[in-house]
Amino acid sequence: MVIKEIRPIVGKTALVGVIGWPIEHSLSPVIHNAAFAELGLDWAYVPLAVHPEQVSVALNGLQALNFVGVNVTLPHKQEVMRYIDQVSDAAHFMGAVNTIHNKNGDLTGYNTDASGFLNSLIEGGCQPEGLRVAVLGAGGAARAVVFALARAGAKSVVVLNRTIQRAAFLVDDLNDSFPSTVMSQALTDEALAELAGQVDLIVNTTSVGMYPDVQECPWPDDVPIPNNTVFYDLVYNPLETRLLARAREAGQITINGLGMLVHQGAIALKIWTGYEAPVTMMRAAALAKLQFKTLATD
Ligand code: ATR
Repeated sequence: MVIKEIRPIVGKTALVGVIGWPIEHSLSPVIHNAAFAELGLDWAYVPLAVHPEQVSVALNGLQALNFVGVNVTLPHKQEVMRYIDQVSDAAHFMGAVNTIHNKNGDLTGYNTDASGFLNSLIEGGCQPEGLRVAVLGAGGAARAVVFALARAGAKSVVVLNRTIQRAAFLVDDLNDSFPSTVMSQALTDEALAELAGQVDLIVNTTSVGMYPDVQECPWPDDVPIPNNTVFYDLVYNPLETRLLARAREAGQITINGLGMLVHQGAIALKIWTGYEAPVTMMRAAALAKLQFKTLATD
């Protein structure tokens, strides 16, 4: 697959970007610029390092600088909600915004993480309706995953977290809308051993196993990988975490986190441009960048 060259940026080029702190490691510029090139759109996507004390100034600047919108990444996903005019239901529910659309100074906040997760899950061959799920972790990413699964009709979702209060807090927020679907538990080896074989899908949303700690695994060494279970790891660096390698070796279906990154970006691109995103090309661009990075750090 040939990733097309980025067009020159000129006065009429439509601008979007991503705000975060730090921002150097974001793959989003590569993913979106590859999509614009593929679609033949005169658009450009730039990484914007915005200090936490400058979030409101930066958002005011979107209109002044004619930005069509921005993605929002760590640590600003909650903070931006104070400065935008309206938020989508999903963003409101998650208490976090990852995509802003600027229409003549009127800013709307969206959260495309939940739908991005769901699209990648389905793409990986796993339909969410009626599933029994265990979600490891209870941070921002877990919130998107649990919301997506509950909304899509999962039968049950157990949220397991090292800090049990955080899992209980997440579950409390969802219980009004999805009573009896979502439960919380402490993330212990015993809890995982008990859940093994009782769930159809296990999603790791913790950072355990992420580069550089690639030898770590959220699944206990002495608990066998259960059969008939799909393993989804939100980590995409490395593409195959130790958890996914163990699951694959045990014959289970595995899905890595690159799909969620690509699909949340695809939905954002559609919000800004109205075009269906070239998902295959976006994934190829992300993969090329990741492989280059791996070579560079080897
Ligand atoms: P994100 O937005 O990516 O979800 P986060 O909000 O910082 O990031 O959440 C990180 C998650 O990984 C949390 O669930 C965290 O558990 P705690 O709430 O107990 O901190 C989990 N996590 C990080 N390191 C972990 C580890 N070594 N073992 C178990 N869980 C871990």
